[in-house]
Formats: sequence, C-alpha cells, structure tokens
Amino acid sequence: MRQQFQTLEEIHRVALTKLDDVIVDYLEGGAGDETTIRRNRSAFEEWEFQPRVMSGLSSPPTATTFLGLPLSIPVLTAPFGSDTMFHEDGQKAVARANQAMGTVSMVPEAGSFSYEQVAHAAPAAARIAQLHPAGSDENFLRLLARISAAGYSAVCVTVDSPTGGWRERNRRNALEFDSSIIGGNYNPADRDQMEAALGQLFTHVDNVWSWHKLSSLLDDFELPWIAKGITTVADARAAVDAGASAIIVSNHGGRQLDDVPASLPALVEIRSELGPGVDIALDSGIRRGSDVIKAVALGATAVVLGRSAVYGLTADGQRGVERTLELLTEEMITVLTLLGRGGITDLNHEAMRRVPR
Ligand SMILES: Cc1cc2nc3c(=O)[nH]c(=O)nc-3n(C[C@H](O)[C@H](O)[C@H](O)COP(=O)(O)O)c2cc1C
Repeated sequence: MRQQFQTLEEIHRVALTKLDDVIVDYLEGGAGDETTIRRNRSAFEEWEFQPRVMSGLSSPPTATTFLGLPLSIPVLTAPFGSDTMFHEDGQKAVARANQAMGTVSMVPEAGSFSYEQVAHAAPAAARIAQLHPAGSDENFLRLLARISAAGYSAVCVTVDSPTGGWRERNRRNALEFDSSIIGGNYNPADRDQMEAALGQLFTHVDNVWSWHKLSSLLDDFELPWIAKGITTVADARAAVDAGASAIIVSNHGGRQLDDVPASLPALVEIRSELGPGVDIALDSGIRRGSDVIKAVALGATAVVLGRSAVYGLTADGQRGVERTLELLTEEMITVLTLLGRGGITDLNHEAMRRVPR
C-alpha cells in the first residue's frame, strides 16, 4: 500500500506534478506582480510564539464553532470554483472529506457541481454556499432560494470580485473556462444568467453592486450571511453595518487586487475594530498548522483553506483533503502542547509577539 502523505508540503508537491502547466499557473498564480501572494506568507514569519513551558496541560482541545457551526478544528474549506479541473469529483470530494473530518465546506457558485449535488454528496455535513453579488437581482434571489432549500446553513458573499484580477499568467496562457467546469449551478437554458453573473469574473463590467443593494436583497433572507474578501477596517465596519453576521478577512489569495494588506496584519486591525462579538475567519496564505494557531491567537475565529485544500483534492481526491485536514490537526495539537496553552479557545494575543527588529 502506498505510504500516506506525511507533510502538507509533500501533498503540494505531488499535486503540482498531476496538473498541466497552464492549470498550475492558474492555481499558483495571482494578480499583478504577485506581491500580495508573497506578503500573505511572509506576514506569518513576522509573528513569533510566546510559549509557557511546564504548563501541566495535555491533549489540548481543537474544537470550536464558526457562526454557531461546530468544527473539529478551526478550519473551513474555501469556495474554489472550476473544481473538476483539479479532480473529477471536485467539491463533492471536498464535502465528503469535510463531513468525515467534522469541518465545513464553502460551496462555490462557479463550481463544477450544483449546490444541490454537493449537498447530496455529503448530506450529514454542515455547509455554506458562496455567491457572487453580480448578475440580475432575479438570478441572485433564485440562487438564494435554492441554497436555503438545499439545507445550507449560511451564505458567503464574495465582495472582492466585481471583476477578475489582473492575472498575467492566465493572460499569457489565454486561459478560458468551459461552462462544464464553472457552470454547475446553471442549466444550459440559463446561459444568459450565467454569463451575467459569472462572466464579469473574466471581463470588465458596468454592473458593480453596492452594500446597499446587497443588503436590500438579503433583507428578508432567513439564513445568516458572511462577507468574504475584506482587507480594511473601513470595509469590515461597512459589512457589519450592511447586515453581515460574520466576515472573512481575505485578499482572495492574492488573486484579485495586488498590493493590498496581507491577511494576518489586516486581521489584527479588523479584530481590534470589531471587538470580540463578531466571528471573523481568515484566508489567504494558510499552509500549515502553526499558521492556524497564529491566526486564531491574533483574533480569527477560524481559517479558510484555499490552495491547501486544492492541493489535497488534486493529490488524492477526498482522501487527499482528509489527509490535509488530519495533518493540520496533528500539527496544531503539537504546537498547542509546546505552546503550553490549554486549547484552541484559550488562545489570545498573549501567546504571540511581533518578531523584534
Ligand atoms: C483555483 C481557485 C479558484 C477560486 N475560486 C473562487 C471562487 O469561485 N469564489 C471565491 O470567492 N473565491 C475563490 N477563490 C479564492 C479562495 O476562496 C480563497 O479566498 C483563497 O484561495 C485563499 O487564499 P490561499 O489560496 O492562499 O489559501 C479561488 C481560489 C483558487 C485557488
């Protein structure tokens, strides 16, 4: 039997060997000079732990909640579209892995399978549906009704993508997406609706939504919603004022606007602005268990795995995502034990300091 992966770096390496170069560019690349991609990672090196040795504390618990949803570890998987480009089972495999591991999927609008198909693949798991505030009001409301009927617990609205980022690798490769890859939520008969809602990710648009429009459409919706793609204090405040129950501090993994704040320093400022009462998730740059611990200690309720989940899916489908979550769990328990803190919900700023210059 094949030896299981022992590190996340190994999963990443194997995943890249399975993809064509053009897809590797799409996955690994980002906007502009990819400065934000690099800063997302280097920001984690700017913080160091403050361990307390001889704590007498063992078996630190890792469970928590996000928006009231139980999580075995403070991790969700990101809404990444075009998922069958990476593995034929796409988000169905991701949902099954989350179901097995006690974590939560965010299921993309631009996915290869519909919200209903992914829900059906992992019926016992809690799940969140992601939507773009784009296209017609009628299309948006129809998707909301489907999300609710399919048993989703919340809606994640991606607010940082009124158009696609300036991604030069994709331009160079003339990358195009077939509707069979991104159109899982749309019937062929709804092609116009799909073009209006998802087409703006690839071309420029004249229909950029406002907070006011979004909040008026979500006003009567029964599920809580999350604003994904916040990098500034002003936008965090605007999202909460518009009715968001939680936010995701995210720069889309450096794929949208380059030269925006890295996720970790943005989190610190935004948590300080919003105080302890609002659930805040962080994505963009999470690559190992100690990153999760740092983010939680600095104020995140949970983190969201983008590329790390894609690597798991590509490397070995459902099993690859499960192994990714297992390795994160094991590393987190190791780090928490060495840090001498009781458990994930006991973490705070006191466990961290900025690396002295
Ligand atoms: C291949 C790929 C496709 C993505 N598609 C979407 C999408 O359809 N909607 C969305 O809100 N975010 C999308 N994202 C962004 C992720 O949800 C997440 O914000 C980002 O990957 C986090 O950064 P990380 O990759 O450094 O973890 C995508 C990311 C990748 C890598």
